[in-house]
Amino acid sequence: MSQPAGQPGPGAGPVLLRTKAELAAARPGLTAPVVLVPTMGALHAGHRALLRAAGAHAGLDPESSPGPEAGSVMVSIFVNPLQFRPGEDLDRYPRTLEADLAMCAKEGVRAVFAPSAAEMYPGGRPEVSVDPGPMGQVFEGEFRPGFFGGVLTVVLKLFQLTRPDVAVFGEKDAQQLAMVRRMVSDLDLGLAVESVPIVRDADGLATSSRNRYLSAADRALALALPRALRAGQARAAAGSAGSAAVLAAAREVLTAEPGLAVDYVAVVDPQTFAVAGPGHTGPARIIAAVTAGGTRLIDNMPVMLTAAP
Ligand code: PAJ
Repeated sequence: MSQPAGQPGPGAGPVLLRTKAELAAARPGLTAPVVLVPTMGALHAGHRALLRAAGAHAGLDPESSPGPEAGSVMVSIFVNPLQFRPGEDLDRYPRTLEADLAMCAKEGVRAVFAPSAAEMYPGGRPEVSVDPGPMGQVFEGEFRPGFFGGVLTVVLKLFQLTRPDVAVFGEKDAQQLAMVRRMVSDLDLGLAVESVPIVRDADGLATSSRNRYLSAADRALALALPRALRAGQARAAAGSAGSAAVLAAAREVLTAEPGLAVDYVAVVDPQTFAVAGPGHTGPARIIAAVTAGGTRLIDNMPVMLTAAP
């Protein structure tokens, strides 16, 4: 399914690169544009949507094997210890490399970079790292201190190692997406960041590698999360709704589920993650994080604010 390290071969499944040296040797053989999809593996339907979007940005035709003018999709699979705190799920985070490679092969991925932690961080925790700034301190940054510093540091390293023309991220992690865009712009990284809408299961829950931790009862409880966001969205669509009305509609659904622990629910500016105040009109994002049966879940939806309140 995967080829040994070396030059990526056409149409024969991805080449698997385990070290920076293997990546450096394979990189010149990748046709431009090189489109990177950074992941932590345990690939699911949400990741598949990113691979497909990456293929479209690389000029791949899903119906036929790539011609010589097509670009290359590259996927990184790395469970990044820097973005987990003690007590979080680093050790039990699912690792499913064989299945991940099979999905990559099916989606026309040319190369998979899957380094070990020792390969990425030979000296342990890096001394120099990315400071995510004020946007990194709120919402996910508040509830997971150090998280965005860890994410942006590994994403910057992955960009440096793979030198992509385009990188693709999911709207599932909307604050992460906004932070990556901000880093690319503030640090002049010179690549395009493309985003993909959230993929959901039939019951409405956003697909996530962590959903496998949920029991059936936890999952039923967790469905209040997308339901609350939809209620906010519906309130906005009904017209004359500012951020307060949208937030109230979402909160009402969440407070009806006492089994759910709510970290936050808020209506924010999608670029800056500043709270949308009463005067905010136009596009915004309703975001929330909850814990269901010990599993922490995040979700968000776009809303169009028309008027106060
Ligand atoms: P991971 O959780 O594996 O997610 C990889 C990418 O897939 C992210 O851009 C995420 O937003 C996207 N994604 C996950 N579930 C999705 C869904 N249901 N719909 C749409 N996109 C979805 O995010 C990370 O890994 C890491 O923080 C990483 C960026 C790789 C840095 O370590």
